[in-house]
Amino acid sequence: MAEFEPNILTFNCNWCSYAGADLAGVSRLQYPTNNRIVRVMCSSRIEPTFILEALKEGADGILVTGCHIGDCHYIEGNVHTDERMKEMMDALEHLGLGGRLRLEWVSAAEGKKFQETITEFVENIRALGPSPLRKGVDD
Ligand code: FES
Repeated sequence: MAEFEPNILTFNCNWCSYAGADLAGVSRLQYPTNNRIVRVMCSSRIEPTFILEALKEGADGILVTGCHIGDCHYIEGNVHTDERMKEMMDALEHLGLGGRLRLEWVSAAEGKKFQETITEFVENIRALGPSPLRKGVDD
C-alpha cells in the first residue's frame, strides 16, 4: 500500500509570507512538494469559507501564513486573521477536523522558517491521516 501523501494548501500574503516562501525557493531550501500555494494580498482576505471549501475539495491540511503582527501592509489585517483563524480552528476541532488548520507568521526574510513550518505541517498531517472529507474526492 502506498504511503499517504497529504494534499496541503497554503495561503501566503503577497507582502511577507509569499516573499518568505520565495526566499526558501531561491535559497534552495528543500521542503515537501505536496504543497500548493495560493497568494493573496493580505492574510485577512482568507475567509472561513475558503478553509471549508479547500477541505471539501480534498485538502488534508491548510496552512495560513501572513506578516508578523505589526507588519501587515494593511495595518491590522493580520489581527483580524488571527481572530478569525483561531475561531476557525475551534470550529474544526468540534467537527473532528482538529489540527488540519495552522496559522503562522512568516516575514519576507524568513525563508528558513517557511521551510521548517511547511515541513513540520506536512508531517503533522501525515500523522493525522487523510481528511475524512477527502473521502469521495478520490473515488
Ligand atoms: Fe501580510 Fe496583511 S499584508 S498579513
